[in-house]
Amino acid sequence: MKSHLSLDLIAPMQAMAREAGSLLMKHFQAHVKIEYKGDVDLVTVADRESEALILERIREQFPAHDVMGEEGARIETGSDYKWYVDPLDGTTNFAHGYPVFCVSLAVERLGQRVAGVIYDPTRDEMFSAELGSGARLNEKAMHVSATANLGESLVATGFPSHKRHKNPNIYFYHQITLRTHGVRRAGSAALDLCNVASGRYDGFWEFNLNPWDTAAGVLIVEEAGGRVTDFSGGSFEIASRETLASNGLVHGALLHEFKEIFAGRGLEELPSPVGFAQDRKRD
Ligand code: IPD
Ligand code: CA
Ligand code: CA
Repeated sequence: MKSHLSLDLIAPMQAMAREAGSLLMKHFQAHVKIEYKGDVDLVTVADRESEALILERIREQFPAHDVMGEEGARIETGSDYKWYVDPLDGTTNFAHGYPVFCVSLAVERLGQRVAGVIYDPTRDEMFSAELGSGARLNEKAMHVSATANLGESLVATGFPSHKRHKNPNIYFYHQITLRTHGVRRAGSAALDLCNVASGRYDGFWEFNLNPWDTAAGVLIVEEAGGRVTDFSGGSFEIASRETLASNGLVHGALLHEFKEIFAGRGLEELPSPVGFAQDRKRD
């Protein structure tokens, strides 16, 4: 049954994401100059132009809606509807010419996510979901994987650039690597969530993501039949800074591993590079 809540938002959202995606591709082919927002927090003219374009389209078509965009777009009137805009998710990849990035748009109604669209212009893949109507990849229904065993899973994570020296994710990366088929780290949280939704990954986690990184992807995972929580299994909140998404079947096992890692129990030891180098000399 089609959701009446999202009020035919999906088609205009897809059109905006496609238009912003072609703008990104033009800049990508021309190689953009890198600017810095923080130590290693990059931004480019493509991020800004994409956000300006999306903001203009929202204003034209949904003038009463509120907006929060990563590059500063803010409309706050107390509207029932609020857009979360990530005009370019994967800026570091984009700026280095690595083709893994996307546009992410989500709409909340009265604090509930009702529509999400993520467009990958490098593969022409349009991921979308409406609350209660399922998730789609290029208009075909999309479902999470059926992998039930963590040991047979392919999962993903990301490392936030902000305060990176204080982040313990390398421990999670190490432990989960040894308990799965592997952990990918591709550099676009929105696409990581889409890859869980489409069954390419069985799970994904990241510390400290922002609302514009997660709003669309979380709805897309849930509508594809997956589960998203914080790192303790509590409900995912847009401001919670902990995102754990999975196909649902390996969620309990991931939560168990997280609990053990946070408690420092049963950690596999990281082999010392110094010891390794000494053994190399002896060989
Ligand atoms: C970043 C990407 C990356 C994640 C960072 C995000 P941006 O978004 O999603 O995968 O690890 O935490 O900030 O800055 O490229 O839009
Ligand atoms: Ca982002
Ligand atoms: Ca961004």
